[in-house]
Amino acid sequence: MLRIRPATLEDLSTLGTVLAPLPLFQAYQLSAEAMTQRLQGALQRGENLLVAEWEGAPVGVCWFITRGAFANGSYLRIVAVKEELQGKRIGTRLLQAYEAGSDNPPGGWFLLASDFNEGAHRFYARHGYRAVGHLPGFSSRGITERIYWKRRPTAG
Ligand SMILES: CC(C)(COP(=O)(O)OP(=O)(O)OC[C@H]1O[C@@H](n2cnc3c(N)ncnc32)[C@H](O)[C@@H]1OP(=O)(O)O)[C@@H](O)C(=O)NCCC(=O)NCCS
Repeated sequence: MLRIRPATLEDLSTLGTVLAPLPLFQAYQLSAEAMTQRLQGALQRGENLLVAEWEGAPVGVCWFITRGAFANGSYLRIVAVKEELQGKRIGTRLLQAYEAGSDNPPGGWFLLASDFNEGAHRFYARHGYRAVGHLPGFSSRGITERIYWKRRPTAG
């Protein structure tokens, strides 16, 4: 059974080990240790870190900062699911948890996706995100990030 819950320190080395080998993170040469350290930093700073637990084991993560975009939008730093379990809607559940856990941001929901990550582009488009700009070399030299944005629905 799938459960989405707040991450604890005990989850982080497993998450680092299962997520660092994903082709996306390999493009940024991220090791399991470096991934684990980044997640530890997020917890230590009190940022939002949710884990997807499948049959008792951590298999996915969602890391976000509720006003991390332009001070009035929410910013998703990472959503990722263990390779063998992708395509089973775990990512959808994590994205929904990001949106629901963002305290209704006036500026909506933001995230970045590498321009080569076509699977992620389809995933975000399906969930109502639009590509609104580019950041060449933002995270790594030679890789352009696409800025994705989902507006908050207007009342009425
Ligand atoms: C993107 C990601 C979080 C989606 O989670 P998921 O649990 O696989 O997605 P869901 O099952 O909820 O939705 C399936 C949709 O996700 C997209 N998708 C992206 N990568 C996919 C993959 N490897 N396998 C299956 N679907 C993938 C597709 O749009 C797919 O729909 P389609 O099969 O009709 O094309 C996940 O595939 C993942 O961790 N990818 C690697 C890390 C990554 O790219 N993260 C996003 C960084 S910006």
